[in-house]
Amino acid sequence: MAALHVVVLLSLICICRSDDRLTPAKPLSAGDKLVSSNGVFSLGFFSPTNSTAGSYIGIWYNNIPKRTYVWVANRDKPITNGSPGKLVVTNNSDLVLSDSQGRTLWTTMNNFTTGATGTSAVLLDSGNLVIRSPNGTEIWQSFHYPTDTILPGMQLPLSTDDDLYTRLVAWRGPDDPATSNYSMGGDSSSDLQVVIWNGTRPYWRRAAWDGALVTALYQSSTGFIMTQTTVDIGGKFYLTFTVSAGSPSTRLILHYTGMFQFLAWNSTSSSWNVFIERPNPICDRYAYCGPFGYCDATETVPKCNCLSGYEPDGVNFSRGCRRKGELTCGGGDSFSTLSGMKTPDKFVYIRNRSFDQCEADCRNNCSCTAYAFSNMKNGSTSSDQSRCLIWLGKLVDTGKFRDGSGENLYLRLASSTGIYIFPYALMDCIV
Ligand SMILES: *[C@@H]1O[C@H](CO)[C@@H](O)[C@H](O)[C@H]1NC(C)=O
Ligand SMILES: *[C@@H]1O[C@H](CO)[C@@H](O)[C@H](O)[C@H]1NC(C)=O
Ligand SMILES: *[C@@H]1O[C@H](CO)[C@@H](O)[C@H](O)[C@H]1NC(C)=O
Ligand SMILES: *[C@@H]1O[C@H](CO)[C@@H](O)[C@H](O)[C@H]1NC(C)=O
Ligand SMILES: *[C@@H]1O[C@H](CO)[C@@H](O)[C@H](O)[C@H]1NC(C)=O
Ligand SMILES: *[C@@H]1O[C@H](CO)[C@@H](O)[C@H](O)[C@H]1NC(C)=O
Ligand SMILES: *[C@@H]1O[C@H](CO)[C@@H](O)[C@H](O)[C@H]1NC(C)=O
Ligand SMILES: *[C@@H]1O[C@H](CO)[C@@H](O)[C@H](O)[C@H]1NC(C)=O
Ligand SMILES: *[C@@H]1O[C@H](CO)[C@@H](O)[C@H](O)[C@H]1NC(C)=O
Ligand SMILES: *[C@@H]1O[C@H](CO)[C@@H](O)[C@H](O)[C@H]1NC(C)=O
Ligand SMILES: *[C@@H]1O[C@H](CO)[C@@H](O)[C@H](O)[C@H]1NC(C)=O
Repeated sequence: MAALHVVVLLSLICICRSDDRLTPAKPLSAGDKLVSSNGVFSLGFFSPTNSTAGSYIGIWYNNIPKRTYVWVANRDKPITNGSPGKLVVTNNSDLVLSDSQGRTLWTTMNNFTTGATGTSAVLLDSGNLVIRSPNGTEIWQSFHYPTDTILPGMQLPLSTDDDLYTRLVAWRGPDDPATSNYSMGGDSSSDLQVVIWNGTRPYWRRAAWDGALVTALYQSSTGFIMTQTTVDIGGKFYLTFTVSAGSPSTRLILHYTGMFQFLAWNSTSSSWNVFIERPNPICDRYAYCGPFGYCDATETVPKCNCLSGYEPDGVNFSRGCRRKGELTCGGGDSFSTLSGMKTPDKFVYIRNRSFDQCEADCRNNCSCTAYAFSNMKNGSTSSDQSRCLIWLGKLVDTGKFRDGSGENLYLRLASSTGIYIFPYALMDCIV
């Protein structure tokens, strides 16, 4: 009778305990999974192909039939030989993944030296795996160690001096979570840009942030709104996105082909719809149109053009464009306003300047070819809200947007070229 009571009590305890968490007493073994309390995300062991080549600890959508991983712990150290692995949260507040021989394949290394009872690892409704100390403090979270995916509410630090600075790193192939040569993150030159690299070479670049709060997207068929934004918190920049309540599952990824994609789950077609993809086909790849060339997306089919005052240097744009006349670098040079532009790479970011001071900085420096100015007051919490960019020498990876986004680029013109007839935007309408 007493024994029966114990059994009943134990099973009650098991039913009562939510299975969204691990405790030191309850490790995760092959076949087990955690499910977030809203049922949206699962964490467990998986093998990407049905081979037994290797298995991983990952987080995926629990309720989406097409298995989709948003995070992988041991991407470069799979559990091999079909060995059953074990994921444990230790009394020292670490997660440790080990194989059947007891070898550690992955661990969080929080380096707490004094153990405490009551540590847990919880899979939250957002898809974030969090280690909590007994007093509830969050010690570690998977959102700080992304794989190739940003989920709504997650913040990717773009400032390279941020302790948590990291990059998304794409999978090596559709069934291979190992780190590939494609990565995406903040650019150390200024913290204002997001870059995709292929190894060490830039493959795509998002224009320097101009303080615009959001890039919003609205899908009328589902009534779903997505806003992608860079936020400035105390002078540090983060890339993040949010979706409206009731939206389908959405994610931002660096695809194994090197493409940056926004996807939303379409339950009708039971597939992921890609609704933003970069680089755009044709001329959006980094520096595709060469120095002083730009990718003109206002054309029916985007194509390379030369900035005003420049002409193609050769038969195609592999060498970009060359200046038609020399700059005199005296009082004679003027500036042409190009609107709706993706500003070029390789700028000098000068802080604490007014618009007029920014122009003077460019005008007074003979090697300055262009400048751009933005007042970031809407998106910035730091005291200096000006953003003066000047370019010395070549202008690379410039573009003109189709949709009216982008900003003014003030391009230095030699007074002798005499081509400054219409403001650029007007020229577009006439041609
Ligand atoms: C893997 O699974 C897919 C379907 O899930 C099946 O079509 C394929 O034949 C399997 N491959 C192997 C090697 O078992
Ligand atoms: C954690 O601490 C508790 C209580 O001190 C102990 O019973 C348990 O064995 C420890 N667990 C591990 C995995 O060390
Ligand atoms: C813990 O120690 C290891 C090895 O010294 C180090 O690489 C790691 O960054 C440390 N972790 C933290 C959170 O400081
Ligand atoms: C909570 O516990 C952690 C370590 O487990 C400790 O660093 C922190 O100071 C504690 N916080 C409070 C409010 O007690
Ligand atoms: C990734 O980069 C390494 C080192 O630069 C290179 O050896 C390798 O071929 C690259 N892999 C691919 C798939 O391009
Ligand atoms: C990335 O670089 C490799 C060489 O390292 C090249 O073979 C591959 O085509 C590049 N990828 C893209 C998308 O340009
Ligand atoms: C800043 O906010 C004002 C009013 O709220 C708006 O008119 C303006 O377009 C915003 N500027 C930017 C750069 O977002
Ligand atoms: C979802 O898929 C269906 C069927 O393919 C399609 O008709 C519908 O337009 C898609 N919805 C969205 C929002 O793309
Ligand atoms: C551009 O022209 C150069 C030399 O004239 C040639 O080597 C190169 O292949 C051309 N590139 C393209 C994309 O046509
Ligand atoms: C910004 O410039 C103004 C004058 O132009 C100066 O008074 C102020 O101290 C500067 N602020 C910083 C943070 O450099
Ligand atoms: C132009 O500006 C750059 C950056 O501020 C500076 O390094 C360079 O010395 C300046 N050149 C001249 C001629 O003033």
